[in-house]
Amino acid sequence: MESNHAQRKNEHLSLATKLYDQVHINSLDNLQIIHRSLPEISLDQVTTATKCGNLSLEFPFYIEAMTGGSQNAYKINRELAMIAKKHHLAMAAGSASIIFHDPNARKSFSIIREINPDGIVIANLSANANLEQAQAVIKLLKADALELHINTAQELVMADGDRDFHWLTNIKSLINHLDVPVIVKEVGFGMDASTINLLQSIGVKLINISGRGGTNFVAIENRRNHLSDFSFLNNWGQTTLESLLEAKKVRKRETQIIASGGICSPLDVIKAGILGANEVGVAGYFLNVLIHNGTDALEKEINNWEITLPRLLTLLGCKTFNELTSVDFVLHGKELEYAQQRHLI
Ligand SMILES: Cc1cc2nc3c(=O)[nH]c(=O)nc-3n(C[C@H](O)[C@H](O)[C@H](O)COP(=O)(O)O)c2cc1C
Repeated sequence: MESNHAQRKNEHLSLATKLYDQVHINSLDNLQIIHRSLPEISLDQVTTATKCGNLSLEFPFYIEAMTGGSQNAYKINRELAMIAKKHHLAMAAGSASIIFHDPNARKSFSIIREINPDGIVIANLSANANLEQAQAVIKLLKADALELHINTAQELVMADGDRDFHWLTNIKSLINHLDVPVIVKEVGFGMDASTINLLQSIGVKLINISGRGGTNFVAIENRRNHLSDFSFLNNWGQTTLESLLEAKKVRKRETQIIASGGICSPLDVIKAGILGANEVGVAGYFLNVLIHNGTDALEKEINNWEITLPRLLTLLGCKTFNELTSVDFVLHGKELEYAQQRHLI
């Protein structure tokens, strides 16, 4: 019998796949790229390689934090790690806090590094983790970076979630004491300019805005919570597009922005790049392909992303992913209204 915490991890996996189609909205559909007919470039001048902090990545997208802690999570992490290795993708593990009270859970995380000894692996913990915990998880995964998640909406919808959210001092201290880069990330509710400014003010240089549009942890936790009903919060937070516009307004030169939340095509990756993302994380969409259609289907999908991305960069006359910020676009519908009211364009 698995622990309650491990069961929660299994429920997340199952609900994230069950609910994905119901909750998925693509804010990036409201961004229209302006086509240019004379790009003056050839495909062999283009590279998909990017840098995120001091991490050198072969592609501008990676497998974002999802799971660990149960037998099912072990299986999924193993399959994702094999795909990450074969396709040269970075991969983040899910939150590893479970290992501090359930040592059996360790192998569901360490398997990622075992499978992929030379790949880029990112560890993940809550922003309230202490230094010893952060060091232990980095050691377990031989992690190249650590993600700290900030997830108020998720915790407050959970019947037994956290209720205290004083995170800034701890994040600052972890950044100052750890010797790997620290990424601060949302979990699908997006960020606004003031949040990004606060993070920058304490020295955070890698920020994953993880916006609304894909996996929805209000909907997931609401299904798990039988004591109260938070279904009215299903549209909480800023979409991925809105969050990227917020970031564009206030980001400092040394800040790297990571986009995630509802990314489900190479065109979404490109659109995130146009809005200033330096790297793009994909969680729910890849999980859905894996669970519903299997490993071969996910490999085929990722292979297609890796083939089409350089051609999309060529289409837009960009030699690198970061050059995408020079591409013109217009906004439509709700996203245009949001940008106007927030003075973001
Ligand atoms: C099953 C599942 C479990 C997740 N667990 C974590 C986690 O442990 N830590 C974390 O930072 N984010 C977690 N996330 C959130 C994702 O990393 C991402 O921020 C969010 O799902 C939005 O991206 P998406 O729409 O591509 O799924 C999880 C997502 C899924 C689908």
